[in-house]
Amino acid sequence: MIDNSLIEKIASIDWEFSDADTQYLTHNIHRYSGKFIPQIAQQAIQLLTNPGDTILDSYMGSGTTLLEAQLSNRNAIGIDLNPLAVLISQVKNLRVSEDVLNDIATILIPYVSDLNSNGQLSFTSQTTHDDFIQEQFNRNSWRLTDVWNQKWYQPAVLEQLVKIYSCIEILPSECAKQIAQVAFSDILRKSSNASSKYPNVMYDKNHKEKPLPAKAFLENIHSIISCLSKLADATTGANVNIQILQGNNLDLPLPNASVDAIITHPPYIAAVPYAEYGCLSLNWFGHDSKALDSELTGGKRHSSKVVDNFSADYEQYFRESYKVLKHNKYMFIMVGNPVSHGQKIPLDQMSVEFAQQAGFRHISTAIRKGQNRRGNKMGEEYLIFFQKE
Ligand SMILES: C[S@@+](CC[C@H](N)C(=O)[O-])C[C@H]1O[C@@H](n2cnc3c(N)ncnc32)[C@H](O)[C@@H]1O
Repeated sequence: MIDNSLIEKIASIDWEFSDADTQYLTHNIHRYSGKFIPQIAQQAIQLLTNPGDTILDSYMGSGTTLLEAQLSNRNAIGIDLNPLAVLISQVKNLRVSEDVLNDIATILIPYVSDLNSNGQLSFTSQTTHDDFIQEQFNRNSWRLTDVWNQKWYQPAVLEQLVKIYSCIEILPSECAKQIAQVAFSDILRKSSNASSKYPNVMYDKNHKEKPLPAKAFLENIHSIISCLSKLADATTGANVNIQILQGNNLDLPLPNASVDAIITHPPYIAAVPYAEYGCLSLNWFGHDSKALDSELTGGKRHSSKVVDNFSADYEQYFRESYKVLKHNKYMFIMVGNPVSHGQKIPLDQMSVEFAQQAGFRHISTAIRKGQNRRGNKMGEEYLIFFQKE
């Protein structure tokens, strides 16, 4: 049964959001390439779901859909293969207590402030924290002579990074540590010898001396604390459940017919190499960015078979999505048509074809020109609506 009023509403929306603020609350706590504009996720949520529903974003990325879901009183499940995406999403969606933020302010920040002003960790009080930080520093000192770290960080920068990272360990809760890790992850790139001209992590042969990172870390952590306080205020009394999982969406750990909507944003084939862009953070936190790249849908971008590999996964993705969506409910995706090995690939058509093969009905496609993005290399983007029949 086709809902004609839904089709009319989709057509009446201006999907450009040219002047919209896209950075409110926690949306901008960490850089992540290829993010949704939050207003797009929000519109899809309003069109396709009701308060109390459960939304799945199985290409979750940095958790934009999840945040918009909780702001609209919807439950949400997010899944991504990339551990960095999972970490950012977790923090972006935290309804955090004052106690956790106080722990960061009173335990971690004083140590890093000392480091910033004196260049040293001051162990004046000989508290158990001092001993613990020293222990963590000893445990992490292998990083100072590690070949990868020596390539990407100048010696003084690296030493300060190891000190900040050791201080994070003194935080008493996992949640406080995750917040600090996001602030830390975001400075790795800026403090590194990677060129700032490209989004790829490319070694800059002419790199200059980099500023020590404690100052940037403090700015980040203060900004995240402020964003999280605002989020806590904005979600006071909300009774929603947000679940964030690391995993492959080709094999969803969810019961059949269990979600009320799928609202998601697949990779535009290999347009954004997520593992490569995040390799400094991934490798610091002990993940293998190359192994991740080969698992991602759209990974191994230099392979001549990149489009074939992507298609095989993407076809399976629609079959898997069909299984977990409830009957008569909707799926929304946004895609652009990228150029791969010199050829424009019609990912919009591919998406419709695979979705129909999996059993979905194609309801409508809206088009946006993407005027609100910095690097508009993709041209138009397609907002595609399906229904499970
Ligand atoms: C376009 S991004 C999503 C961005 C997101 N909308 C946001 O606002 O941050 C696509 C995401 O798909 C993830 N991904 C790619 N292949 C995947 C797979 N097979 N299973 C789960 N996630 C995958 C990537 O790690 C990336 O984070």
